[in-house]
Amino acid sequence: MEKLLITGPTALKGEVEISGAKNAAVAILPAALLIDGTCTITNLPNISDVKLSCEILEALGAKITWTDKNTVTIDSSNITSTQAPLGLTSKFRASYYIIGAMLSRMGSVQVAMPGGCQLGARPIDQHIKGFEALGAEVTVEKGHINATANKLVGTSIYMDIVSVGATINVMLSAVLAEGTTVIDNAAKEPHIVDVANFLNTMGADIRGAGTDMIKINGVPKLTGNATYSVVPDQIEAGTFMLAAVASRGDLLIKNCITKHLEPITRKILEVGGQIEDFGDSIRVWNTEKPKPATIKTLPYPGFPTDLQPQMGVVLSLADGTSIINESIWDSRFQYTEELNKMGAKINAQGTRAYFEGVDHLEGAPVFSTDLRAGAALIVAGVVAEGETEVYNLEHIDRGYENIEEKFRKIGAKIKRVTE
Ligand code: EPZ
Repeated sequence: MEKLLITGPTALKGEVEISGAKNAAVAILPAALLIDGTCTITNLPNISDVKLSCEILEALGAKITWTDKNTVTIDSSNITSTQAPLGLTSKFRASYYIIGAMLSRMGSVQVAMPGGCQLGARPIDQHIKGFEALGAEVTVEKGHINATANKLVGTSIYMDIVSVGATINVMLSAVLAEGTTVIDNAAKEPHIVDVANFLNTMGADIRGAGTDMIKINGVPKLTGNATYSVVPDQIEAGTFMLAAVASRGDLLIKNCITKHLEPITRKILEVGGQIEDFGDSIRVWNTEKPKPATIKTLPYPGFPTDLQPQMGVVLSLADGTSIINESIWDSRFQYTEELNKMGAKINAQGTRAYFEGVDHLEGAPVFSTDLRAGAALIVAGVVAEGETEVYNLEHIDRGYENIEEKFRKIGAKIKRVTE
């Protein structure tokens, strides 16, 4: 079993390069199945969810060629199967994008119910509502999803809930449909815009991504033959920004789009951190004990749920009591029990948690309960006094490229060891 050993406290200082966005990459890879030809994708994060996505594409008949660890060429001219390997699709959440892409391209698909981080109930009713509105038949039985369609026809779809996954999935299924599809109450995250930009580069006609109304004019086919670079990961950038604040350090975070970071910069300023914005890089530093704050997680451009645990570390050390309301996931405070083992004083009740700021955290053995919880525990280990052992690294490796190397470069005393 692998674990991270971290000795703190360290004030993080220096420069970090941000990788391509995980949540864009895991949608763009299935989107490549729509192309009757080849495409090259650059700036892919080298993480296990990307590798799994590529394995699924290969099993469906796509030819995958890695040029370097962040660049892949995909040839989807010859899709040979409509059955995605159940063992692979059940391993992570984003495998649900195979449904939208394969329905559109092949008119049929079978996948396992998607797995992923345990954050509470994760229904896919809005995805299914969209596929059915376009003319597909969808059945869910014994943990499998079957979707078929003789023909998909564009229509107007209102999302009952703002959902990243359902917005992207319906967009994928509408790209080759006959006529125009309109998605109302669409999610607006930067990765939604990125998937639309990728598809448009390959020949699709999608307008309005990034607003709450997306219009997709169906095209007969996507021809590809183009190269696309994945957007920088705003959640990875936010993780390092919050690490700078928690550790009272000074970081220059490079290769990011600072416009996407505004929901985070606002809250960092509120807790007393300082920011210098250079457009494609951002400097974040902090010299004081953080101030307390009230946070509510919301769809973009609200404060992202995927940075809630990392912000939880900052608020654990604040000068007073803070509150976080988690409005996206029912069960995203599991990490607070681990932080309490390190001396934090957090009282989590359902989807609300109260953080009574403490003077310092102390190193302890802790278990990552999901991807972002794992990132938060690394930040906690860096700022805590003494030695922290972080277990369950498979969660962290799903979404952060080379995380211990990036933290080491900015001064953290961190190493991966096998027990
Ligand atoms: C995406 O999950 C991300 N995952 C999550 O990131 C992120 O936390 C989440 O969006 C919110 O930003 C990927 O992009 C692969 P949703 P997704 O559909 O698409 C409810 C991480 O750490 N809902 O926007 O699954 C749902 O229960 C991960 O990187 C329905 O009720 O999230 C939730 O309450 C974790 N019915 C809310 O909507 C549906 O059909 C938002 O979920 C779909 C969703």
